[in-house]
Amino acid sequence: MRIPLVAANWKMNGNKAFAERFFSDFDLQAIAAHVVVCPPFPYIPLVSQVAEDRERFSVGAQNLSQESSGAYTGEISAEMLLDWNARYVIVGHSERRSLYGETSELVAKKFVAAQQAGLIPILCVGETLQEREQERTLEVIANQLKAVRDIIESDTWKHSVVAYEPVWAIGTGKTATPEEAQDVHQFIRGELGNVGEQVQILYGGSVKSANASALFAQADIDGALVGGASLDAKEFAAICRAAE
Ligand code: PGA
Repeated sequence: MRIPLVAANWKMNGNKAFAERFFSDFDLQAIAAHVVVCPPFPYIPLVSQVAEDRERFSVGAQNLSQESSGAYTGEISAEMLLDWNARYVIVGHSERRSLYGETSELVAKKFVAAQQAGLIPILCVGETLQEREQERTLEVIANQLKAVRDIIESDTWKHSVVAYEPVWAIGTGKTATPEEAQDVHQFIRGELGNVGEQVQILYGGSVKSANASALFAQADIDGALVGGASLDAKEFAAICRAAE
């Protein structure tokens, strides 16, 4: 049995007052799904404080360095995130890949750095609109997964989460239909080998309370990675409840 997981990716939004207000509006007690909130780095301590002693609530980061320490100005290591009680870290988000030139090989190194330190990586994969139109979706995703598989032991997938995020659905209001998403999730699970059944595979891309239930009803969709809608505590709570 895979436990439903809903992760919030606040991206570079909000401030201290926003983070405080969010948790006064977000009633964690009322939610049975496992929830991860990934704020910008400076607010990780604040979210960690909320996460303390709460079994089903964790804090995550949106990125990390593949290096463990040294002269890497502006970078943040897995150990530093652990110091502030982060449990998860997003790697390979499409914005990191497209805006900051992160290759699948670099993403794979970040995945390993996270796992070796004891963090759970949330590996994002997904195709662009052009790739979908060229019917290359599965090939693109297979290659993104392969870069990681090439440098890990196959059962290491067990200690990770995968998020399928079609690039054309991120922040656009367009969502893959539940059936389109299910097809890709099923494919991803197959690619994860023996431990595939144990890995939570999240869907991301314009998830909101209005479309969450239909997505979560699919056999291989175990939750969501939510951007825009995670900035509204009530809307995010409604998505979390749909995952239960
Ligand atoms: P969105 O973002 O929900 O705003 O589409 C999802 C993501 O980028 O993880």
